[in-house]
Amino acid sequence: MDVLSVDQFNVEQLEDIFSLANSIEQRLKDKKGTKELAGKHFGKQVCTLFYEPSTRTRLSFETAALKLGLGVVSTENAAGFSSAAKGETIEDTINVLNNYGLTAIIIRHPETGAAEKAASVSKVPIVNAGDGTGEHPTQALLDAYTIKKQFGRLDNLKVVMGGDLKYGRTVRSLCRLLSLYPNNHISFVSTPELHMEQDIKDLLKKSGTTYEETDSVNTAFKDANVVYWTRLQKDRIKTADSIDISDFTLTPEKIALLPEDSILLHPLPRITEITPEVDADPRAKYFEQAGNGLYIRMALLDQIASL
Ligand code: CP
Repeated sequence: MDVLSVDQFNVEQLEDIFSLANSIEQRLKDKKGTKELAGKHFGKQVCTLFYEPSTRTRLSFETAALKLGLGVVSTENAAGFSSAAKGETIEDTINVLNNYGLTAIIIRHPETGAAEKAASVSKVPIVNAGDGTGEHPTQALLDAYTIKKQFGRLDNLKVVMGGDLKYGRTVRSLCRLLSLYPNNHISFVSTPELHMEQDIKDLLKKSGTTYEETDSVNTAFKDANVVYWTRLQKDRIKTADSIDISDFTLTPEKIALLPEDSILLHPLPRITEITPEVDADPRAKYFEQAGNGLYIRMALLDQIASL
């Protein structure tokens, strides 16, 4: 079972993952459950192969593996310290790892489609931990899990997505996931240089998910259930310094426009687009959201290791 794109899941499979993540979250609350989980996949190993920097995805995957009894072999800077630095292709690297009896290989790579390329030669399940501006499916799963925990549903929601919608892969994956559920409406808030790409807008249209594009934070926030904010992906944009996103910095004054029962999410890292003063607002759920990554990634690794 590869995890390459949100597109591979249907609603039933997503609900199974959320239900397993919830059961793991509950079991981790007591010593007995934690101990049982820690022995579940003893003797198996996963590899984390990260060609791009990461805090949350790599460390939550590795923590998830260890909490399930899985050993971890890792190269946290595969671009600099694996043989990729000598010119080895990703296919050759995977062909080598194929011989080590691993249970899964978790890959982050700057090139869109790299996880799929790895999967094309892998005998071991590949998990896409972010590929260029393509997808970040496990992030979308944890985002959706966070939304479901708050509202008890993933349909009939007004979701505002703001910031860098062109180069951010998390918003692309979350749009794909929300399009599977009925009656969602998405407001894209951004500058013209950072608008959501047409392929995602086409996908939303095809699925019946309505959307609008605006540059007005005030209008979009009025009746939002979920606000999903993102950073400018400076690492991917050559002209990043010439893009003015100062109007998209969320402050306590801007957050005050949101309904009381809405939530503010961000995949993190947060740079300047949400000021630290917002953290104290009860609607700011981004650190809790990052924590949910552990349960979702444990659920996925548990499913893969149980095959
Ligand atoms: N949200 C996310 O992918 O964070 P990292 O880049 O730190 O893994």
